[in-house]
Amino acid sequence: MEKIIISGGRPLNGEIPVSGFKNAAVAIVLATILTEDKCIIENLPQISDVTISLEILRSMGVRIKYINKTTAEIDSTFVKPDLAPYELVRKMRASYYLVGSLLGRFKKAVVGLPGGCDFGVRPIDQHIKGFEALGSKVTVESGCIEADATKGLVGTNIYMDVVSVGATINVMLAAVKADGVTVIENAAHEPHVVDTANFLNACGADISGAGTDTIKIRGVKNLHGATYAIIPDMIEAGTYLIAGAATGGKLRVTNLIPKHLDSLTAKLEEMGVTLIEEDEAITVISDGKLNRANIKTQPYPGFPTDLNPQMGVLLCLAQGTSILTEGVWENRFRYVEELKRMGAKIKVDGRTAVVEGVGALSGAGVRALDLRAGAAMIVAGLAATGRTTIEEIFHIQRGYEDIIEKLQAVGADIRMVTIPDNIYEKAN
Ligand code: EPU
Repeated sequence: MEKIIISGGRPLNGEIPVSGFKNAAVAIVLATILTEDKCIIENLPQISDVTISLEILRSMGVRIKYINKTTAEIDSTFVKPDLAPYELVRKMRASYYLVGSLLGRFKKAVVGLPGGCDFGVRPIDQHIKGFEALGSKVTVESGCIEADATKGLVGTNIYMDVVSVGATINVMLAAVKADGVTVIENAAHEPHVVDTANFLNACGADISGAGTDTIKIRGVKNLHGATYAIIPDMIEAGTYLIAGAATGGKLRVTNLIPKHLDSLTAKLEEMGVTLIEEDEAITVISDGKLNRANIKTQPYPGFPTDLNPQMGVLLCLAQGTSILTEGVWENRFRYVEELKRMGAKIKVDGRTAVVEGVGALSGAGVRALDLRAGAAMIVAGLAATGRTTIEEIFHIQRGYEDIIEKLQAVGADIRMVTIPDNIYEKAN
């Protein structure tokens, strides 16, 4: 078992580079199935969700060659629409993109139901609605989604009842080679939707409007290979900016797109943090004195739900009482019980948390209950006095490349230890 150990209370100073965006990378890697050619994907983060995506492809006959640490050549010429191993598919929510990609390429798909972080119910009704509107029969049975459009997919107008990143991307994948024009209305605006559309267009697709409410996809016969670089991870960037604000010091977070972080930087400024924005970097300067704030997470360009837990930590360190409202997921506050072990005073009622500023947190043994909850425990451990031990860190490894090394380089006292499983079992 691996654990992260942090001796907190040290300001972060220096530079942290941001890696490629997990949520764009997993979509784009699985979208390569749509091309009968080689693609070169650059700025791929070295995280377990990307490794799993590549393993899924490999199990289906795709040839993968790493050119360097962050660049892979993916050759989907001989991909087979076989059932991907469930032990891989269940580890990652984004494996549902296999349905859209296989449907687009082979007009049929059978995929195990995906796993991922537990935020309560995570329905896929909008994905299914989109596939059916395009002319596919969809059944969900025995833990599998089966989509069948052997008579072909035909473009149509699809109105999404809820704004969903996954459903928007999945329908785009299925529609890209359909006959005629597909229009997705009430589409998600997230930067990874735009990045996936840009990748598909680089391969010869005809998609316009990505990043707005209405996305238009004119079906094309074939897609060719392309070389494409994934955008920087706005959630990783946001996590480090919040860590800088929480610990004090002067931290320059580089290789990011400032526009993607507007909702966060506005809140950090409201809380009294100084920010210096450059073309591809933001420096956060904090003396540790933070004002309270009210925050509601919403689809992009609103405040990202994937920064809710990290921001929850920052609000604990502020003066006064803040309200943090979750506008996307049913149950995003599981991390609160862990934070309370470090001295947080938070009351959760449904989707709202009332966070009483406590000034300082104290180190404790906590668990990473999901990916962003785990990131929040790291932020809390860095800011807290004393020693924090974080368990179940495989969640963090799903989405943060070299997080230990990156934080060590800016002055954090953080390390990972491996405890042999037999010792751990005896202790329990
Ligand atoms: N929803 C439905 N029906 C659907 C799909 C979604 O009701 O068919 C609802 C969900 O229950 C939720 C809301 O719509 O309340 C938004 O869900 P969405 O489909 O946008 O989420 P997702 O595509 O499953 C992606 C990210 C998540 C991020 C959400 C919201 C990926 C791989 N995952 O999930 O990222 O929280 O969008 O921005 O892109 C993370 O990176 O830690 C993470 C969980």
